[in-house]
Amino acid sequence: MEKKIIIAIDGHSSCGKSTMAKQLAKQIGYVYVDTGAMYRAVTLFAMQNGMYPDEGIREEELKTAVSNGEIQISFKFNAETGRPDTYLNGVRVEEEIRNMAVSSRVSPIAALPFVRSLLTEQQQAMGEKKGIVMDGRDIGTAVFPNAELKIFVTASAKVRAQRRYDELMNKAKTEEEKAALNYEEILKNVEERDYIDSHRETAPLRKAEDAIILDNSEMTIEEQNSWLLEKYQEKIKE
Ligand code: DC
Repeated sequence: MEKKIIIAIDGHSSCGKSTMAKQLAKQIGYVYVDTGAMYRAVTLFAMQNGMYPDEGIREEELKTAVSNGEIQISFKFNAETGRPDTYLNGVRVEEEIRNMAVSSRVSPIAALPFVRSLLTEQQQAMGEKKGIVMDGRDIGTAVFPNAELKIFVTASAKVRAQRRYDELMNKAKTEEEKAALNYEEILKNVEERDYIDSHRETAPLRKAEDAIILDNSEMTIEEQNSWLLEKYQEKIKE
């Protein structure tokens, strides 16, 4: 049997990390974990429980909820989409965690050390048996510093904002939802998240020394998928 490895895919937001990570996991029969979804689920929890008013996060309340084990995040494979769906305390939240309200509030939540240590621990447990493709910001640096294959993905902010706009446009069900989408606002959100994610104190977004860089600004999804598959195949031959 082929050896199983850990594949860590880090990089900026909306650069197509999850698309390529999901595709690779499917192709090689690995488990895929979207760690951004976990930070988003914690954000949604805080919003739903009055811990994230406009003035800012009620850190002490959130910390208590975390230590009381009130935030349970899990993934269940959805046979219809062929992808895992995110559950927060047993409730499917896959669409809610992707909306703009959560997107614009998640970075400050992801900067909280007690949130990071909770999720990092859960992510490490998920990778115990290897055979996992995990995407995020600190997988190759903090979660699995010994991952066998590390990729750092990036693309220009404009290209990423356009991709996110197209994705949301495709998902929008009504004309109102479509009309509410604003490219400039999305670009601003992408740039803000880049800044907060790279400047926070705990586990900031940075390339691991041994990560391979992939700038996919000029690549199609098919091109990046085959690039990644090739890197995986090279690695398991070593
Ligand atoms: O990948 P995403 O856009 O769904 O991530 C949402 C937010 O969570 C983003 O602001 C970065 C943060 N995040 C993080 O800090 N560490 C991770 N491993 C994954 C995501």
